Amino acid sequence: MSKLESLEEELKRALVVVGDEAGLESVRVEFLGRKGKLAEAMKKLGELPVQERKRMGVELNEVKEKMEALFGAKHNSFEHKKSSMLAESEWIDVTLPGVAPAEGHLHLTTQAIMEIEQIFNRIGFTRIPVPEVDWDWYAFEGLNMPKQHPARDDWETFFVDAPEGKKGKIVAVPHVSNAQVRALETMKPPFRALYIGKAFRRQSDVSHLPIHNQFEVMMVDKDVTIVHLKGVIEHFVHEYFGYDRQVRIRPHHFRFTEPSFEIDISCGFCGGEGCRLCKEGWLELAGAGMTHPNVLKAGGVDPNEYSALAFAFGIERTYMMREGMRVGDIRVLYKNDLRFLQQF
Ligand code: PHE
Repeated sequence: MSKLESLEEELKRALVVVGDEAGLESVRVEFLGRKGKLAEAMKKLGELPVQERKRMGVELNEVKEKMEALFGAKHNSFEHKKSSMLAESEWIDVTLPGVAPAEGHLHLTTQAIMEIEQIFNRIGFTRIPVPEVDWDWYAFEGLNMPKQHPARDDWETFFVDAPEGKKGKIVAVPHVSNAQVRALETMKPPFRALYIGKAFRRQSDVSHLPIHNQFEVMMVDKDVTIVHLKGVIEHFVHEYFGYDRQVRIRPHHFRFTEPSFEIDISCGFCGGEGCRLCKEGWLELAGAGMTHPNVLKAGGVDPNEYSALAFAFGIERTYMMREGMRVGDIRVLYKNDLRFLQQF
């Protein structure tokens, strides 16, 4: 009996000096292990008389439970210490301001395209796709520019080195007007279409890009007139540049519109007075006109029944004009220099 009690006491003393989990484990082996002190005592049970053996067996089990509880408590105290040390060494102040990740943004051209699309959506124009390479027929011939016609020269076109098809050669489109005949072929009038895409021309200098973006609209209905043309253009200019801007239409010539116009808007810097940017108070921005009857016919629409308007703006020019951006070389827009792009 007293031996058992002293075993418990001995364990208590041993545990007091244990400093870590490894020390605890060796004490556990010493007392509770298969060849430990308790096991030793158990072995001795066999030597006792039956009556005593029973009583001692019960005692032994009680002592065993107590000793296990002592180990458990010590183990828990280590665990507790470990987690409070972690809390001490790894605490963070969740109220500190975070570190913002570097954030990009859409390119100016993409921003402008999205905004332009919304402006026209609101007045019933639906955006349709426009191919970047197309048959000569859609880029020129269907637009009232027969083969060999000198007007084609204005478009400084890249031709794709590929076999000719039924609709002629393949071109990298020099404007997005190739969508006109395609729209007339596939959409049933009346319709209002908007198409936005790249225009490829053999030009590259401080004021020209070999690839620029254009948006064009086409509205086909009965009795569409120049009044509608001016109205739609004015609506766009007011929404995009502001209601203080004026629109002027000047006679021009395109093969696919009759009559044809160039569109100027009043200069935002001098308010139309005339300054270094605009020279005479007006900025030239777009080509426009009433769709030529031959174009309607090329798309299978009867010009006696329907009339149409169309106009196109260069997108880079348009947003540069709004932002008041004056760059020495327009090609900086696509140089991907972040010092430039991050300003917008
Ligand atoms: N396609 C012409 C250009 O690129 C612009 C234009 C479009 C003119 C529609 C009239 C009608 O210059």
